[in-house]
Amino acid sequence: MTELTKIVIPVAGLGTRVLPASKVIPKEMLTVVDKPVIQYVVEEAVNAGFKEIILVTRPIKKAIEAHFEPHTELEETLLSKGKIEQLAMVSDILPRGVRISTAFQDEPLGLGHAVLCAAPLIGDDDFAVSLPDVLIFHPDGDHAHDLRAIVAAFKQNHAAQLMVEAVPEDQVSSYGIVDCGGADFAPGESHNVLAMIEKPPVGGAPSNQSIIGRYVLPARILALLRKTKPGAGGEIQLTDAINALIAEMPVQANSMTGRTFDCGSKLGFLIANIEYGLKHPEIGADFAEWLGQQDF
Ligand code: G1P
Repeated sequence: MTELTKIVIPVAGLGTRVLPASKVIPKEMLTVVDKPVIQYVVEEAVNAGFKEIILVTRPIKKAIEAHFEPHTELEETLLSKGKIEQLAMVSDILPRGVRISTAFQDEPLGLGHAVLCAAPLIGDDDFAVSLPDVLIFHPDGDHAHDLRAIVAAFKQNHAAQLMVEAVPEDQVSSYGIVDCGGADFAPGESHNVLAMIEKPPVGGAPSNQSIIGRYVLPARILALLRKTKPGAGGEIQLTDAINALIAEMPVQANSMTGRTFDCGSKLGFLIANIEYGLKHPEIGADFAEWLGQQDF
């Protein structure tokens, strides 16, 4: 087992579920209240202890990398006007010691393919994967709680970790679903996975525990991904490679303790904006008051 410092965030998707907003602006740059979605996901990774963020992107989505680079003109202007609070908002996004690197995925061949595109940057290290459509909210305010928990479980149990949450039965076909032999999932617990199915038909799923897009994986998964044939949707699926990993080492599903917001869909994105707006330290109280006065 190697030190876990790297996390792969695939951002090369076309964002077809949130068009027309994502025609020119990458969907990861759409804002939930006052921050782009990708910033929440990167902050979660940094707060969980990751030091090397690997974005798998496409050249046209340059705005994502630019958001984490210094913006000298803006910073100088804010400094000269004494706008120190705003200056901190743009200059302190990444703490010292955290690095962002990029790999490119030129063809939309699936999540497994996206992870393989990062292979030269991953090398022989174990690593995590975080899908940026999903925001994780934790009631105690530590939104990295669940990601940190699966990193700890990976080290302690010597088992790959997939974060899961229960979804309504009629939604199983939108997710990877785990089969844990009917195990009862208490929040925070990890259970051995017997098999997993990518996007099973409604009525044909082994459980309603869905993979929410946070994984901790051994470097070995890259070799298995290279052998993985196109699966659901004709894409190279990470789920299929993890299924093959089960024969070699334990794979566990960890039941999250927080909540997810699917910002890759219009409804999820709207709900995230309302909930994060209500909890926002600066505008939350005013927004709640306004909302309470409306007669929709
Ligand atoms: C991907 C994964 C799937 C997972 C989902 C979570 O699917 O392949 O296993 O449940 O993310 O959002 P996608 O949403 O990219 O189709």
